[in-house]
Amino acid sequence: MLDLALAVAHHVFVFVLFGIVFAEFFALRPGLGRDAVARLARLDLFYGIDAGLVLVAGFSRAIFAAKGWHYYEHNAFFWAKLATFALIGALSLPPTLAYLRWQNAGAAPDDGDIKTARFYLHLELALFPLLLVFAAAMARGYGEF
Ligand code: HEM
Repeated sequence: MLDLALAVAHHVFVFVLFGIVFAEFFALRPGLGRDAVARLARLDLFYGIDAGLVLVAGFSRAIFAAKGWHYYEHNAFFWAKLATFALIGALSLPPTLAYLRWQNAGAAPDDGDIKTARFYLHLELALFPLLLVFAAAMARGYGEF
């Protein structure tokens, strides 16, 4: 039952995370006003909270669920998935800092800054499918060492 509950929580948090990155990417367009910047910053806060929940649910699965930590610690796809997740987290920092900067400046951001933040979100979205490939491979025992 714990395995099922953690699996469901993990999938829900992951879906929400993808949805938020996609929503930010969609909302971030030239001509952004101050209200839209405030909305993006709020959305981004939920992104941070949800990324934390993905980590908690993911590590709880790895440690407490059916297969046990021993299974994952010897799996290359598990570590590749974690590294990709960390990379996505690192790529999310420049947009977060940009939203805070724009909010503090109290003025609409210029189009060049918006394009740069969008570029990082684009990279994040492009890396997401890799997580699914690594997750499916590790769940099936590929990449054991
Ligand atoms: C946005 C990031 C993530 C995505 C998209 C993702 C996606 C997935 C998917 C689709 C599965 C199901 C695989 C299957 O049964 O075929 C899965 C399982 C799992 N994930 Fe994640 N995951 C993410 C982050 C994490 C993190 C940070 C951890 C931390 C340890 C983690 C640990 C696990 C574990 C332990 C399983 C169970 C695999 C099994 O059944 O043996 N995940 N993940």
